[in-house]
Amino acid sequence: MAANSVTKNAKSAYDASSIQVLEGLEAVKRRPGMYIGSTGPRGLHHLVREIIDNSIDEALAGYCTEILVTIHQDNSVTVTDDGRGMPVGKMAKYGKPAAEVIMTTLHAGGKFGGEGYKVSGGLHGVGASVVNALSEWLELEVRREGHVWSQRYERGFPKSALTKDRKLKKGEGTGTIVSFMPDREVFTETQDFSFDTLSRWFREWAFLNKGLKIRLLDEREEDRDVTYQYEGGIRDFVEHINEAKDPVHKTVFYLEREEEVGDVEVAMQWNSGFQDSVFTFANNINTHEGGAHLSGFRSALSRTINAYARQKGLLKEKEESLTGDDIREGLAAVISVKLQEPQFEGQTKTKLGNTEVKGLVESATNRYLAEFLEERPGEAKAIVNKALQAARARLAARTVREKIRKGYLESSTLPGKLADCSSKDPARSELYIVEGNSAGGSAKGGRDRNFQAILPLRGKILNVEKANINKILSNTEIQALISAIGAGVGESFDLEQARYNKIVIMADADVDGSHIRTLVLTFLYRNMPELIEAGYVYIALPPLYKITHNRREHYAKNDAELRETLDRIKANGNVSISRFKGLSEMNPHQLWETTMDPQNRTMLQVTVESAAVADELFTALMGDKVEPRKAFIEENAREVKNLDA
Ligand SMILES: Nc1ncnc2c1ncn2[C@@H]1O[C@H](COP(=O)(O)OP(=O)(O)OP(=O)(O)O)[C@@H](O)[C@H]1O
Ligand SMILES: [Mg+2]
Repeated sequence: MAANSVTKNAKSAYDASSIQVLEGLEAVKRRPGMYIGSTGPRGLHHLVREIIDNSIDEALAGYCTEILVTIHQDNSVTVTDDGRGMPVGKMAKYGKPAAEVIMTTLHAGGKFGGEGYKVSGGLHGVGASVVNALSEWLELEVRREGHVWSQRYERGFPKSALTKDRKLKKGEGTGTIVSFMPDREVFTETQDFSFDTLSRWFREWAFLNKGLKIRLLDEREEDRDVTYQYEGGIRDFVEHINEAKDPVHKTVFYLEREEEVGDVEVAMQWNSGFQDSVFTFANNINTHEGGAHLSGFRSALSRTINAYARQKGLLKEKEESLTGDDIREGLAAVISVKLQEPQFEGQTKTKLGNTEVKGLVESATNRYLAEFLEERPGEAKAIVNKALQAARARLAARTVREKIRKGYLESSTLPGKLADCSSKDPARSELYIVEGNSAGGSAKGGRDRNFQAILPLRGKILNVEKANINKILSNTEIQALISAIGAGVGESFDLEQARYNKIVIMADADVDGSHIRTLVLTFLYRNMPELIEAGYVYIALPPLYKITHNRREHYAKNDAELRETLDRIKANGNVSISRFKGLSEMNPHQLWETTMDPQNRTMLQVTVESAAVADELFTALMGDKVEPRKAFIEENAREVKNLDA
């Protein structure tokens, strides 16, 4: 019987009695995903985010200067701040202290207007209670009104009343300390907090909140203790982005305005690279999709730079104006607004809606940038020259791009070396980008031609971090890649047109292979980021070991499989184990079985958690400067591994 056959079931009643209203925290426990996104690693880390968000709000309100986050050996976490402390007075309506109401009731908060907070990241009054609901235990300590207060909860239920423990000692300040243990029954996938993820977030928040000190202490491992504090705020952020690049002028542009609707900060500096790295934030939330603040910034930038270039005769009268893209080439910028009533739109809530912010950012940038340029003619000239160079390359690239566009529109001009699949349905179709012609041959022989296409790349493709767009588009390997995917490139890229919904990079497990993977990924990230965002990009994971037993070959993906295989063949006779090196060591059938067969293969889906991190990663890996690259790889060996098989 089919599990989902449609039958009439006389017994099951569906009436008013089947409708439930989930009271309070019960709703959170039933549907945690709705509150924290997922119960995987993302959701787990989100718990810390909610608690520290509240401390940062205290900082925004001007009362907190230091936050300490400790990951304990048992994976519980403590967040300590020196803010005003959660209110402890009794709330008449509930007959309970405010702190308890906050921890146990959804939509209880001090950020719905009123005197407590002018601007805040907190909006809904749910954060703290959600963490409480999803924690095996949570201990709250408040230092306030001359005393230390505390209360313990288990899975959201108070285990004791809020008690007044002792008087504050001399010199002890106010603050809030929240310790919690994520509920193992909820976070079944992992309870392990990642030091790297948390420290990256904290660094970003320290940049965004000038002067705020955030320390992360990991008691699980020695020497895992970092403190972030930036007196320059987002100015330091821009310097950090440009650390591994060559700035084309010395001074970081910076502006700060406080207005009725909120505060605006902009920092920027151009580097000699070809990418732009413009990051926008609203109330410390990374607005990946931009919005009003970004569009205000962009129009001011175009207007002011063009006006300056014309006025100084750097751009002749008959010459076309510089485009936004020309001007943004090599620009590192951070725009941060803090608003009383932020409105986020878009599916992912990462786009700022507040239209009034456009004018605010635009007029401030126009004014301060014009002054900046006037005061520093040397630097201004370098900035304009950079844009002029970009304009020249753009005009040259237009011709090439046109050629490519014509090429991929006429399907007859699919690249010669592409072995296409017969399926024309992108949802089913897979494109394997394979390193080298010989591995390409094996892949062609082994694939299921119904839905798997193979594109062999000859050796290393061009490093797009080091070339301008004209040169990139003239590269034959890159042209082949663009036409095979069939969705255009850069601004004209159209995800809908992609001929495959899975694009799998298959390269050897050695250093060269890893380099090629990074090159292809960098190209895709810079020129077709939509592919990565849509989750279309994968990395094939060929086996790690080759076991030869009585002239028969076996492959194992990892140590566990290796042991299993050895057990299975009960090693009599000749066994040799070698670390598997190249794809071409396998015949077509083996390649299919181990790496390409959807039933058997393991692939890594490439995700980009934060554009700033990816940007840093790619610049470090592929940029000009060797030192930061080395340091970065050492520091982030684990993450690089993650991204790069
Ligand atoms: N560390 C803290 N210091 C002082 N007050 C706090 C602290 N943490 C929470 N609060 C108070 O508790 C209230 C509720 O916090 P909670 O995180 O549940 O909601 P929120 O921050 O208002 O909104 P959101 O759901 O968006 O986080 C806050 O509005 C604030 O008044
Ligand atoms: Mg909150």
